[in-house]
Amino acid sequence: MKFTLIFLIVLVVCLDVASHTTISLASKPHPLEAQYVSYGSYGSEIDWNDPHRIIPLGYRQTQGKRIFDQQCVWCHADATPAGPSNRSNVTPTPALMNDGTVLNKDGDDFLRKIIAQGGTAVRRSPMMPPYGNSLTDDDISTLIAYMRAIAAPPFKSPSTTRRDESR
Ligand code: HEC
Repeated sequence: MKFTLIFLIVLVVCLDVASHTTISLASKPHPLEAQYVSYGSYGSEIDWNDPHRIIPLGYRQTQGKRIFDQQCVWCHADATPAGPSNRSNVTPTPALMNDGTVLNKDGDDFLRKIIAQGGTAVRRSPMMPPYGNSLTDDDISTLIAYMRAIAAPPFKSPSTTRRDESR
């Protein structure tokens, strides 16, 4: 009798705990603030001039960032994921890839040409290498989408942005 009573009490307590656990799991979804947010990683870019500003990147802009980090960051940024950049050793000094004062004036066709065929194809320095053999046209489009996204001052050309985003 005593044993049955203890057994019943333990059973009731266990069921109670179990039911509470289920309810609490169901009623508490994973809190948003605890989810992984990729600041400064793919999916967003920290503004190069203002570390407090996060620039959200779309899918294609993120692809462009990936290629930029692999191929261009050494000459077109002041710091790289691996450490200091080589930019200060390059003559002429390459534009920072977020420098809107330079790049906003460049049309997509010009950018496509200098990236694919190198500086000499547009009467610029051969220090800008040609990437047409290693990158596809689509890769280059994503690079341009990335450049436009991080430009400071911001790049304003709704038609270009729409076209690049929808491709
Ligand atoms: C070895 C260093 C180096 C690398 C790597 C490099 N560039 Fe360049 N880039 C230069 C130099 C130097 C210039 C300036 C050429 C000039 O003005 O005569 C330049 C110019 C440019 C310009 C023209 C900007 C302007 O002045 O209007 C663009 C766009 C550009 N690069 C994009 C890229 C992209 C995209 C990549 C990666 C796929 C890349 N570069 C990789 C050195 C480099």
